[in-house]
Amino acid sequence: MQNTLVILKPDAIQRRLIGKIITRFEEKGLQIMGLKLMRMTEELARRNYVQHKGRDFYEPLVRFMTSSPVIVLALRGKEVIETVRKMAGFTFGTKAEPGTIRGDYAISNRFNLIHVSDSLETAEREISIFFKKDELLEYENVDTPWVYDLSQGTIV
Ligand code: CMP
Repeated sequence: MQNTLVILKPDAIQRRLIGKIITRFEEKGLQIMGLKLMRMTEELARRNYVQHKGRDFYEPLVRFMTSSPVIVLALRGKEVIETVRKMAGFTFGTKAEPGTIRGDYAISNRFNLIHVSDSLETAEREISIFFKKDELLEYENVDTPWVYDLSQGTIV
């Protein structure tokens, strides 16, 4: 099992796409460990995107991410990092495949609705930026045996 961070960006909230986007993750069978609506501070935005510091899109990205509330979401599941990256689709809306979140709802390079962690190390770092330990809940979902096929005792 892995954990990943998803941020519903200001455009997702302003365009009233919260329900549609979160529903996709729920319907996939992923578990929500943490969730909050918040206003991202400049400090948090800069920390989350530190790897892009110096790129031409960095400053406009920080302005965008702090312009209006966001939702941060910690998700748990089998191979969840790769799964959620695939569900998000390519970074640029015009290049994202139909059927992905960005492919279905985004057209901009910057206003691409969601941010998702791109590796195990990044996920750990990003989750710790936005969630305190006691904000991440461990619990069983009643449908786990049906999502994961536990008929032989292990996840298949
Ligand atoms: P995200 O996956 O959150 O990671 C970095 C973000 O920077 C990206 O989504 C876009 O919102 C933005 N971004 C990346 N490349 C560009 C670009 N060439 N022009 C504008 N914004 C970009």
